[in-house]
Amino acid sequence: MCGIVGITSKNEKIVPGLIAGLKALEYRGYDSAGIAYLKNHAIKIIKSKGRVNDLQKIVNMEEETTTGIAHTRWATHGKATSKNAHPHSFGSIAIVHNGIIENYAEIREELEKDGYHFKTETDTEVACALLSFYYDKWKNIENAIQSFSKKARGSYAIGLLCKDIPNTIFAIKKESPLIIGVGDNENLIASDVRAVLKYTSNYYILSDNEYAIITPSEVKIYNQQGKMVSKEIKKYSGNKNNETKNKYEHYMLKEIMEQPSIIDTTIHEYFEDGISSLLAKMPDLTKYKKIDIVACGTAYHAGLVAKYLFEEKLNLETNVDIASEYRYKRLFLDKNSLVIFISQSGETADTLAALKKVKNLKVDTLGIINVKESSIARLVDTVIYTEAGDEVAVASTKAYTSQVLLLSLLVFSEAIRQGKLESDEQEKIIADFKKIPKQLTKLLASNVYQQIAKTLYQQKDIFYLGRRLDYYLMLEGSLKLKEISYIHSECYAAGELKHGTISLIANNTPVVASFTNEELNEKTISNIEEVIARGAEVTVITNDLDYKGGNGIKNIIYIPKTSDFVIPFLVVVPLQMIAYEVAKLKKCDIDKPRNLAKSVTVE
Ligand code: AGP
Repeated sequence: MCGIVGITSKNEKIVPGLIAGLKALEYRGYDSAGIAYLKNHAIKIIKSKGRVNDLQKIVNMEEETTTGIAHTRWATHGKATSKNAHPHSFGSIAIVHNGIIENYAEIREELEKDGYHFKTETDTEVACALLSFYYDKWKNIENAIQSFSKKARGSYAIGLLCKDIPNTIFAIKKESPLIIGVGDNENLIASDVRAVLKYTSNYYILSDNEYAIITPSEVKIYNQQGKMVSKEIKKYSGNKNNETKNKYEHYMLKEIMEQPSIIDTTIHEYFEDGISSLLAKMPDLTKYKKIDIVACGTAYHAGLVAKYLFEEKLNLETNVDIASEYRYKRLFLDKNSLVIFISQSGETADTLAALKKVKNLKVDTLGIINVKESSIARLVDTVIYTEAGDEVAVASTKAYTSQVLLLSLLVFSEAIRQGKLESDEQEKIIADFKKIPKQLTKLLASNVYQQIAKTLYQQKDIFYLGRRLDYYLMLEGSLKLKEISYIHSECYAAGELKHGTISLIANNTPVVASFTNEELNEKTISNIEEVIARGAEVTVITNDLDYKGGNGIKNIIYIPKTSDFVIPFLVVVPLQMIAYEVAKLKKCDIDKPRNLAKSVTVE
């Protein structure tokens, strides 16, 4: 989603720094880019559709300027054109913006009555015009920002230049993320700290309804009423070198391959001193009678796995909701409820809004989050960090397995705490957890995924089937395929297919199915036979080593028998590999699929 970077430096020419910052934000997903800088009391703007590399070709990297803002745009209002790209300017003001101004149509109408003419369909141009309107009215930029914040509804992180105020960037923040990098010779703004690491690891996090005035030697932060606020300076503690592909062709493949070692590290950490360290590190859930889990996309699928485990292993009622629905629905929560929020980025707008709603109800919240110090991580009562490291590919892989691992460990620890597992069962499950890295390494060494991909990549529709836990896992496999290969895919609970969707199964329709639950395997095998009878060609993932397939079964991936706590990893990693190999054969932009954003910071 939109990325913002801005630099004001004592002496450095800042265009290369802005371009480098935009490149560091590319992972967020975007469709156009632009920069604006101050020079000789004027603002120069350059924008282009497409990639940051396209923008780089048309900017002067040697330009004599020390203050500028830049942006990668993920289109919301108005198509992905260079005209709609940011920065936008009006009068003395130029801005870059991440978020949505919800009442932009109403503001636009009012400004049009005042003689303003708009060149684009964007809400950002309207925001810029409103700031310009107030600036012209008050002849004071701070008053303009305060008036803007009172009038504009919605979410916004804004970087602003005013041609009358040299060497200064203004930042305004409500709901969308924005940090201020504090360097020795320059200060910066960015949507994500990763965009400022070339200059500094020190940063402030702007809170909602704050604005800042940033010069090369000073950062001043104010609340909406114009009162100065003091803030703790943070230090980036991540791995600055995480963002190289190493020997891999794509970040996605690198991140898939990292999974065994991430799981290994996490398991060692939680079982450092056996069960006692697991119990010490995991929160006690004994008092809760009901769990809600809220997330989006892949994180939602991780939540479904947790639901299965909470219900099966703890007999604890658990509902999983998509955050964009949960934030608007009636909630049935009380002091014995816990709401778990799962998010890789910790910035997903819908998940954050749902969290704020639950916080208002004073119900306990727990976050399973990857990005440290992210908005959701800061707001939940308790946070458990997944230790996946930076995930660059838009398609989530290692973040998903890290989320599922922590949720599995959480349920396992609670089952021990509540006396639901005999000690020999506990030992068996721990042994199963410890086997995952080796089992995954073996699965990842196979070349079966390329062979399967050859049979799938020219298809138009692919169906995924499973029951119970397998269904939840296949949902993730289906999403992975859709997002990076652009092949239409649907996932169904195997028993549901005959209630309508089976009409879509015809000769050679590809189906991917998994069955890993002894009690249900026969049922799923019958459903597989039903689709084969209608011409489907089926790829199977199973831990039933006696299953030999038959007519219509094109591929079988055997996975080891193991505990329910561990099955998800062994099923989903092969599904990630199938999606990856299919997208590779289709020559798709695997790490940055069209239309998608890594961090979805608008509703
Ligand atoms: C999955 O591959 C996607 N990147 C997407 O579904 C993602 O999981 C979703 O947008 C939620 O993001 P979050 O984990 O950062 O909240």
